[in-house]
Amino acid sequence: MVLNIGLLGLGTVGTGVVEIINERKDAIKKSTGKSINIKRVMVNNLNKKRDIDISEISLTEDFEDILNDTEIDVIVEVTGDLESSYKYIIEGLNAGKHVVTANKAVVSKYLGEFSSLAAEKNLAFLYEASVGGGIPVIKPLREQIELNEINKVQGILNGTCNYILTRMINEDKDYREVLKVAQELGYAEADPTADVEGHDTLRKLRILSTLGLQGKVTEEDILLYGIGSINSLDIKNIKKMDSTVKLIAEAKKFGDGFTAIVQPTIVKNNNYFANVNMAYNSVAFEGDHVGELKFYGPGAGKLPTANAVLNDVLDIGNNSYRKGNPLKDESLKNLNEEIKGKYYLRVSYINNETNGTLKELANQVLCEDEDMAIITNDMKLSKINSILSGLNLSKDRYFLAKIME
Ligand code: HSE
Repeated sequence: MVLNIGLLGLGTVGTGVVEIINERKDAIKKSTGKSINIKRVMVNNLNKKRDIDISEISLTEDFEDILNDTEIDVIVEVTGDLESSYKYIIEGLNAGKHVVTANKAVVSKYLGEFSSLAAEKNLAFLYEASVGGGIPVIKPLREQIELNEINKVQGILNGTCNYILTRMINEDKDYREVLKVAQELGYAEADPTADVEGHDTLRKLRILSTLGLQGKVTEEDILLYGIGSINSLDIKNIKKMDSTVKLIAEAKKFGDGFTAIVQPTIVKNNNYFANVNMAYNSVAFEGDHVGELKFYGPGAGKLPTANAVLNDVLDIGNNSYRKGNPLKDESLKNLNEEIKGKYYLRVSYINNETNGTLKELANQVLCEDEDMAIITNDMKLSKINSILSGLNLSKDRYFLAKIME
C-alpha cells in the first residue's frame, strides 16, 4: 500500500521531510508494510535553486494540483504563511485529505476550527511539529487528557530565544551576534521578531493550554514579555545571583479560573530548566493522576521538526492516531490580574523621579547608576505594569524578569 503525500512548502522543514523520507523509505516499508511517497510538492518558485536533489519530485506552484489529485491522501503543510495556510488546511480537509502541519501560527489561531472540521470529516488533523520541534509532546498530552485533569503546562518553547540566552550567559556574547547565528542555523522564524518578542512561544502555549486545560484559551488570554530588551548588565546581574535566564511559558489552573503568561524567568543554576540549553526545549505538564511529566529535546531545526511531521504522517499511515475532537468549548475565567511574585527590573537612563519610584518597589537594589536594577517586593505583576506605564518608558528602556521561587 502507498501513502501519497502532497507537500506544501520546500523551505527548511519541507526539505527535511524530503531528506528523511528518501533516507528511511525502505525501512518504513519494511516495518509498516507501507510506502511513503511524495507525490507532489507545491513551491513558490519552480525555478529556485534547491539544496536537495529534486529531479524525481513533481513540483507545482498551484495548490489546486494537489487539492484535485485524488491519489493524494495526506497534505503536509510546512509553509510559514498564516492566511494561505488556513485556506490550504480548510480546503484540504473539505476535499477528504488528512492534514499534518508544522505551522504554529495557523494552529494557534484556528486550532478549534480545524479540529472540529477534521472530526466531522473523520480525518486526521495533526500538528506535533508545531510545539517543541522534535519533541513528542502533543501526542502524549492528547493521551493524558483522557485520564487526567491537567493543572499546569510549562516550558521553554522557543529554540531561538533559548539559544541566544544560553550563549549570552555562558559566553558573554552580544545579543545581535547570536541572533544572527540562530538565523543561520535555521532556528529562527523568517521574521525573528516572532521569536525574540515571544509571539512564537505564546502561540505554542496557546496550543498546549487549549489542549491541556480543556477550555477556551485564546492568544489574547496570554500575557507576553519577550527577551528583546535584555542587555549585558542584566546578564551580569543574573549571573551574580547564581542563576540563569530562560523565556518560560506557563498556563495553570488558578482559583476558579486560570493564568497564562510568557515571560523571561530567572532560575537558579540548580533548577531543572537552567540545564535546558542552546536550541533545546522542554515541556512539562502536570496531571492529577500521572503527576508531572517532563519532555526534553531539540526544539527547532530542520531535521528534528521534519521528524515530528513524519511521526504524524506515520500515525496516519498506520491508522494509529487518536480520533475525534480533543478540544472543549468551555469558557475559562482569566485570572492573569492575580499573577504575582518577585521580579528583576532594570531601567536605563534613570532620572530622579524614576530612581525614587523604583526604590519604592525594591526589596533589594542591585545597582543604581545611569542604569538601575532592583529586585522587587513580592507583588502583583499588574501593579508593576501600571507603575512602568506611569513612568512612560519605551519598551527598549527596561527589562523585566520573574524570579522563579
Ligand atoms: N523559530 C522556532 C524556534 C522554530 O526557534 O523555536 C521551531 O518552532
